[in-house]
Amino acid sequence: MPILQNKIAIVTGASSGLGRAIALRYAGEGASVVIADTIETPLEGGESTLERIRAGGGKALFVTTDISDWDAVDALVSETVKHFGRLDVMVNNAAIYTSTNLLETTPEQWARVIGVNLTGFFYCCKRAMQQFLTQEPVNDVRGRIINISSQHGMVACPGDFPYGVSKGGIVQMTRQIAVDHADDLVVCNAIAPGKIITGKPGVANDPDSLDYSRRRTPWPRLGAPDDVAGAALFLGSDMASYVTGINLMVDGGWMAG
Ligand SMILES: NC(=O)c1ccc[n+]([C@@H]2O[C@H](COP(=O)([O-])OP(=O)(O)OC[C@H]3O[C@@H](n4cnc5c(N)ncnc54)[C@H](O)[C@@H]3O)[C@@H](O)[C@H]2O)c1
Repeated sequence: MPILQNKIAIVTGASSGLGRAIALRYAGEGASVVIADTIETPLEGGESTLERIRAGGGKALFVTTDISDWDAVDALVSETVKHFGRLDVMVNNAAIYTSTNLLETTPEQWARVIGVNLTGFFYCCKRAMQQFLTQEPVNDVRGRIINISSQHGMVACPGDFPYGVSKGGIVQMTRQIAVDHADDLVVCNAIAPGKIITGKPGVANDPDSLDYSRRRTPWPRLGAPDDVAGAALFLGSDMASYVTGINLMVDGGWMAG
């Protein structure tokens, strides 16, 4: 039987990169997937995540969502439940960055990064929790939250002040929810990717950044989106029982060194 048979999942930022890989892996394992993003076109090009899933015979829905807007997040979860009947897994993945240090960061940049990466995660966790608490548990779990953090939530992200601060907050948000809602049978975990090559244009793939990541990563290659999707599959499935409040490193050993 597929690992996520009968599960309903929302993946934010699922049009591109890691979110897209998670959505495709989830759909391939039998989940119904709601793709929540501000845009539908993948940053790395190619057909949309919705088209890919439907072409493979999977069930999916695209809902235009800016996670920094409470009303949009509220509508996202309501639409998911209206369409698929419940919510089993909330994957909070969408995030932004500015590549600015403390002095370079403007108040507007700070507000936008925190607004998406922290307030947006808060909105998604809160709205998912509201839904979970209306549902009967399945295999002892009422619902699962997976927050995509980063190794840069534990060690500084060179030259990206608001992003690093937001990722540190996500790690703690995960622990807080795991502890406060264990009695509700809601599981909450994080995944901390190291350097993952997504194919999108821009600073993420500039030679200096790649060189730095290669020097920091013991494993002889950098990460691929599917590496993270595998971890998200485990944490979104019934295989992960009695696992809550962790920040699972998927970093080729970056944080072990
Ligand atoms: N790629 C890496 O090396 C790496 C490393 C560590 C952590 N991460 C984390 O993994 C996650 C995904 O990273 P990625 O590299 O795939 O990013 P990406 O930039 O390729 O994709 C992000 C997606 O989120 C969407 N998005 C942006 N703002 C949004 C908003 N307000 N509401 C809804 N959707 C929004 C974008 O449209 C895009 O589709 C992020 O949380 C990132 O911090 C990535």
